[in-house]
Amino acid sequence: MGFNPLKEKGIPVEKQIRNWSELNVKPYDKNAVHPYTRTRVILMNGIEVEGAMFTHQFARHSDDMDIKRHLALTRRVEQQQQKAVNWLTPGNETVLEVTIGYEQVAVDLTAFLARTEPDPYAKAVLDFALLEDFDHLYRYANLMDLVEGKQAEKITGRFTEITVGRPTMLEHRHPFDEVRKHFDAKSADFITQLHAMTILAGEQQTMNFYMNVGNRPEGEIGRGLYQEIALIEEQHVTHYESLLDPRMSWFEMLVLHEYNECYLYHSMVEEEVDPNIKKLWELHLGMEIEHLRIACEMMKKYEKRDPEEYLPKEVPQVLKFESNVDYVREIIAAQMDYNAMETEFVPVAEIPKDGRYYAYQKIVNADGSPSEQVIKWHIDEKGQDYRQEIAGPHPTERYRARK
Ligand SMILES: [Fe+2]
Ligand SMILES: [Fe+2]
Ligand SMILES: [Fe+2]
Ligand SMILES: [Fe+2]
Repeated sequence: MGFNPLKEKGIPVEKQIRNWSELNVKPYDKNAVHPYTRTRVILMNGIEVEGAMFTHQFARHSDDMDIKRHLALTRRVEQQQQKAVNWLTPGNETVLEVTIGYEQVAVDLTAFLARTEPDPYAKAVLDFALLEDFDHLYRYANLMDLVEGKQAEKITGRFTEITVGRPTMLEHRHPFDEVRKHFDAKSADFITQLHAMTILAGEQQTMNFYMNVGNRPEGEIGRGLYQEIALIEEQHVTHYESLLDPRMSWFEMLVLHEYNECYLYHSMVEEEVDPNIKKLWELHLGMEIEHLRIACEMMKKYEKRDPEEYLPKEVPQVLKFESNVDYVREIIAAQMDYNAMETEFVPVAEIPKDGRYYAYQKIVNADGSPSEQVIKWHIDEKGQDYRQEIAGPHPTERYRARK
């Protein structure tokens, strides 16, 4: 029998508050950290941010003091967890280096979820955005080489390819075409719900990060590139959040959040190669088991329902950060030219020439686009673009030229 967070004993919530020196963890060494330890840190930070913001929203929609107090208590812990996790990132990692880590998360998390997603529509949603974040990694890698003289492959390792995806300039589409269909919580596989929650938290953290640090570069092209990609992350949050079943109650959503935290910390513990960071994942898992128990108690008390009736008896297969080179190439070969029309993904030829996609493109790209300018700048300065193609030339012939 696999891991079942409902059958485990967690840490009592009154014992979960830590002092400042416990929270002020020793950061990893940016030159020695495993790329996938960095991505685990980035993902779990995003999960904790979502945990805190979701319970804030819940509290704002509740008129019951007891509920508000319970939410405030577990939220304080989520906030402490967020500090401990996010402070693992060292101060000498530049904004651009951290950014490369964020886009590596987006590529390898999305690819893993897509490969293991049982629902065909949810898989299509993941595959669609995969090629967009894949392109972001390439654009930022070119910027970093230009302004900091650093090669992105030093951060990503030889795990993730860096080359042209669906060109960022073409990703800008009308907001109506980012809204997707939602799953039915009563019939959807539980793993589909966990996947949607996880990718949403990851993309939302990326959106928030660019919203805040996108103004840190000094040059016009760098500042523009962050703006342009930040708006795509807004699209991605719209895209993924619409997968969630909006008919779920606040309590069901709370249980889903806490269950997902248990599932993810369990996965991080299983996969972590850094012994100190593994201890942090274990500690947080012990806390989340108790959060889940409290969330289940609240649902029993206020909705007279027992979530054990629908929660799985064990967590699904652990979530893994691993290389997805072949999978990404397969999706590039098949879907590079896809676009979105309402809730569906279609070849670009099916997009009406006089429709809202081209009208929106005409407005935002009227003066060119920084994601193209950064590549031109790299070619002008260094003779060709920056790439790291591990498994051979680009799968799409017309993206093979590097000048
Ligand atoms: Fe948490
Ligand atoms: Fe991205
Ligand atoms: Fe994204
Ligand atoms: Fe939690």
